[in-house]
Amino acid sequence: MTVLYLIFCLMVTAATQAAYFSQQPQDQVVVAGQSVTLPCVIVGYRGMVQWTKDGLALGGERDLPGWTRYSLMGDPLSGEHSLLIDSAELADDAVYECQATQAALRSHRAKLTVLVPPSDPVVEGGPVVRLKAHTAHNLTCKASGAKPAAEITWYRDGEVMESAIYSKTLMEDGKRESAVSMLPISP
Ligand SMILES: *[C@@H]1O[C@H](CO)[C@@H](O)[C@H](O)[C@H]1NC(C)=O
Repeated sequence: MTVLYLIFCLMVTAATQAAYFSQQPQDQVVVAGQSVTLPCVIVGYRGMVQWTKDGLALGGERDLPGWTRYSLMGDPLSGEHSLLIDSAELADDAVYECQATQAALRSHRAKLTVLVPPSDPVVEGGPVVRLKAHTAHNLTCKASGAKPAAEITWYRDGEVMESAIYSKTLMEDGKRESAVSMLPISP
């Protein structure tokens, strides 16, 4: 009798306990090409779970059709609905949220920052730059396509040159930057 009563009590408790997140996505930084998992574990919930990316729903199925590099990971019966992003790209740089729709639960908004290394730096006119004596010139080095923008340092016979002028411009995708450094010299 006591045992039955106890079991009944536990069942009632489980059924009435409000669903909650035991793991939520946090802000994360990933280098392009690497994979990343945004965790989402919901306790006491059996309904539909979906992720949003910049407010846009990714869909309710676990293999996320239409998002070839995205999938849901873990055992849904254990409440695991983590989002795996395979081989991150710049397009994945966004704010993500895990939602238990039928319980009106939303996770933290997690910012995924995708870092992109720059192209190899190139000195204009290099590798051999011919200059006229006594004529001022700017040696120009460019490194583009990076997020955040590349830093550029000039060395002369191994010594860092501090006189360079640095500038950067946002590229058309609105995320990557081109960096330019000009080193004035008077040969
Ligand atoms: C070098 O670049 C600076 C900054 O843009 C500019 O003020 C200067 O006139 C340039 N010098 C030459 C020789 O082009």
